[in-house]
Amino acid sequence: MDSNTTLVAQQEEWNKVVKDLEGENLKLASYDNTLVPLLGDLTDKNVLDYGAGPGVLALGLKKLGAKIKVWDINPEMRKKASGKIGTENTYQNLEDIPRDHFDFIICNLVLCIVPESEVRAIIGNIKELLNENGLSYIGFCNPKIFDIKESNLDFRFPTGNKYDDNHDYKKVKKEGGYEIIETHRPIEWYEKVFAESGLELVDTHFTPEYELEGEKIQDFVIFELRRKP
Ligand SMILES: C[S@@+](CC[C@H](N)C(=O)[O-])C[C@H]1O[C@@H](n2cnc3c(N)ncnc32)[C@H](O)[C@@H]1O
Repeated sequence: MDSNTTLVAQQEEWNKVVKDLEGENLKLASYDNTLVPLLGDLTDKNVLDYGAGPGVLALGLKKLGAKIKVWDINPEMRKKASGKIGTENTYQNLEDIPRDHFDFIICNLVLCIVPESEVRAIIGNIKELLNENGLSYIGFCNPKIFDIKESNLDFRFPTGNKYDDNHDYKKVKKEGGYEIIETHRPIEWYEKVFAESGLELVDTHFTPEYELEGEKIQDFVIFELRRKP
């Protein structure tokens, strides 16, 4: 393996690839282009991007009329996002985010890179931050394609573990060429945690299907959720 290859193995390390995240056109074409139509008319909607990275999607949503705010655990990401959407729209502490407030909370490609305890913490936070009629869109790489070796977006190193087993595996991103350690957890595992955390599943969406090397692939899953009444 090339010794200069960047490896992102911890949730706090994503600043190593901030420039790459800003240039991810394939991901934008697949994930963001599926998510944005689901959100509908964003004019004056209170929207939080939770784990926003450098703020690429947040800027797009701002341009569509949303009152966009972002939170990210990584200070460098928050600085990058501030540069795009304004410091006044970037929370510096989780505690500063208003409860019972947001019409939409987006959380893209975050739950698949954090430990189980943090998955539960993030879902719990999202539930507290949504307003009564609010919806959350939480998405990441489609667990159903856990054993493929290649997609349009990455090369993967399947471990031989079964679909039902939670396990870590490595990916090399085609855009950027960096490596990440991601956690596979079955869709049913997430559904259980959502329910336990007080979120109700409204719908499950997938990004468009394509074929590669004889495999039918939908890169991402997006769960649509609301607070349990
Ligand atoms: C793969 S990037 C995705 C960025 C962006 N959401 C996107 O779709 O391009 C994961 C982001 O989640 C952030 N992150 C990781 N753990 C987090 C946590 N516990 N709370 C908030 N953000 C977190 C990282 O700093 C990083 O910016």
